[in-house]
Amino acid sequence: MDFKVQTTELDALATAGADALIVVLGGDSLPQGLDAAVAKHAQAAIKLGDFALKAGQAVTLTQADGIKAPRLVLAASGKTTLAAARAALAAGLAQIKSRGAASAAVAFAGFEAELAESLAEQTAIAGTDAVYVYRHTKPSAPAASKLAKLVLLVGKAEQKATKAGLARGEAVAAGIELARECANRPANYATPTYLGEVVQALGKAHGLKVDVLDKKAVEKLGMGSFLSVAQGSDEPLRFIVARYEGAPKTVAPVVLVGKGITFDTGGISLKPGAEMDEMKFDMGGAASVIGTLRAVAELKPKLNLVVIVAACENMPSGRAVKPGDVVTSMSGQTIEILNTDAEGRLILCDALTYAERFKPAVVVDVATLTGACVIALGGVRSGMYASDDELAASLTAAGDAALDPCWRMPLDDDYAEGLKSNFADVPNIAGRAGGSITAAKFLQRFAGKYRWGHLDIAGTAWKGGAAKGSTGRPVGLLTHFVLSQAK
Ligand code: BES
Ligand code: MN
Ligand code: ZN
Repeated sequence: MDFKVQTTELDALATAGADALIVVLGGDSLPQGLDAAVAKHAQAAIKLGDFALKAGQAVTLTQADGIKAPRLVLAASGKTTLAAARAALAAGLAQIKSRGAASAAVAFAGFEAELAESLAEQTAIAGTDAVYVYRHTKPSAPAASKLAKLVLLVGKAEQKATKAGLARGEAVAAGIELARECANRPANYATPTYLGEVVQALGKAHGLKVDVLDKKAVEKLGMGSFLSVAQGSDEPLRFIVARYEGAPKTVAPVVLVGKGITFDTGGISLKPGAEMDEMKFDMGGAASVIGTLRAVAELKPKLNLVVIVAACENMPSGRAVKPGDVVTSMSGQTIEILNTDAEGRLILCDALTYAERFKPAVVVDVATLTGACVIALGGVRSGMYASDDELAASLTAAGDAALDPCWRMPLDDDYAEGLKSNFADVPNIAGRAGGSITAAKFLQRFAGKYRWGHLDIAGTAWKGGAAKGSTGRPVGLLTHFVLSQAK
């Protein structure tokens, strides 16, 4: 999708030349200063009962009198928030994305001027999202949308902010798209090897340093915990490290760690059959940090970023790790594996130890870690844990700004009460209660040497049901967070 900015004041929208003019209307009355022809058509549609200034409402008028564009799309947001604007734009785009229009001009009317940058960012994200079609293993999927160009119409005063927002939005959108594509591909395509290739390709395109470690190298590092998860699968593991260097080497990097379980059967603690296919999305954390790497590499901020992905399958087999087995993590801590389905923390703990070598400013791991987090927060907010309040505030702010929100969860030591083993330093599970929190408490044992954040994205990384597919979250949150860490 091609994005452009054009100077057009609110009272001259009718002059815009494109295959469609989409006007997003904020608030419950027509905005002051709105183009007279647009206002006239909106009023007529409201009077006819075909349109209302309420969230979710959108209507298309063809060859509307006095409007240069052959299609006028009115999309109402009800509220004047950024989130409402994005939802309304998505509804407006849905009106035209599978029809004849190849280009659209987009205008937001009735929103605060301070929102200009974020509105532009969200336009790039919504536009890219609207035309994304998964087709890698479904060549018969509906033809790609004709819609290939969006022109943002903004007044002179908002030009600068709009251009900045659009640049950030295009990068985030590309990152989200990459994450979605990686996660949507089935586990027999999106293998650990494939994830390594994706990062290698990103490295080539953007001049990043990339190391893809195989089993031998991982053995050498002493990652007994990671290895124990991978040992049941015939699919070779990969430990992927990529470095973006936008600041002098003396500047401590931000490190992102992604859970890359390309398929989670549960292992010997086998999962029930229902919806097990969705466990191909169990590399959503990995997909999101790879997508974020892409976004950051395109934006070239003055900071250093390290992205680490631990990737393998979790399979049952004659060689698989068994409940009761004790493994030695890279940190030296021994772990009693009481449930082989709690595998995410077993691969992440070694990645967190590995992260120490970068003397990081901060480490954030991202994982589809627990079903308990889905129960706690559903699909709206990701679960967020942080070792200090400032980091928690940064992650919260990043999620809010990106419309990719998270919610802080507690890390009281009392929650680690159940993490006791007679046979190892720590077991990999506690009781059923507070499952997302006890998983975080497990990880915290391996993240003591730096500022640490953890995102449990089990509820937000993908959607089930008829709209089954990856969301690309939390690429938006992570990109905003990384950008916020530039000194
Ligand atoms: N990948 C799952 C978590 C998950 C489950 C994400 C459902 C999204 C939907 C993870 O590896 C897992 O199996 N966790 C177990 C942990 C339990 C055994 C302590 C879980 O949540 O049931
Ligand atoms: Mn599992
Ligand atoms: Zn898992």
